[in-house]
Amino acid sequence: MQITIALTKGRILEETLPLLAQADIEPIEDIKTSRKLVFDTSREGVRLLVLRGSDVPTYVQFGAADLGVSGKDTLLEHGGDGLYEPLDLGIARCRMMTAAVAGVPPAHGRIRVATKYVNIARRFYAEQGRQADIIKLYGAMELAPIMALADEIVDIVDTGNTLRANGLEARETIAEISSRLIVNKAAMKVKHRQLQGIIDSLRQAVAG
Ligand code: PRP
Repeated sequence: MQITIALTKGRILEETLPLLAQADIEPIEDIKTSRKLVFDTSREGVRLLVLRGSDVPTYVQFGAADLGVSGKDTLLEHGGDGLYEPLDLGIARCRMMTAAVAGVPPAHGRIRVATKYVNIARRFYAEQGRQADIIKLYGAMELAPIMALADEIVDIVDTGNTLRANGLEARETIAEISSRLIVNKAAMKVKHRQLQGIIDSLRQAVAG
């Protein structure tokens, strides 16, 4: 049976390839430079897809891919329907945080929050019992508090350089982020032996 693994392009892809190689799954062409989207591998019957991060859970949820590598940020935003998450790959680590203009005291009452992660933000402020109007942006979230579009943002923080460069400071940590292996629930039954084999090899690669 053919096994399809959906990968997230960019930095996560670069950190995923060495783990896959240790599990004897290597693309037979240069996956980082090719414009192709589907790649055969050194492992018979295993192929790789290279997708935008936010599309990986969708492919795996609907069974168009059996396995996927996805950032926890993307999974939290997606909701995880139809997916198992058997393994933390420990790569592409960062934090999901709130941030605001440095030195400005926290706003009281109803606030405006700009983010690409509307579901994560909505859940976080609701759990805190804080009223927040969530404004969807597609990038450059750091600009929103500076231009008074929003009081706070919810975004990924790694080194903190992007916040600092824009006069913002991190406030609260919402979640620790890293990339996870995800599996389609139905495929896990139908292709159990093959998928469990790949999961086990990747678990060893992560531990090693
Ligand atoms: C992310 C995030 C921040 C930055 C944080 O963007 O949106 O802008 O990284 O990293 P830092 O704390 O090390 O500065 P990314 O570069 O992934 O691009 P994106 O805006 O397309 O998500």
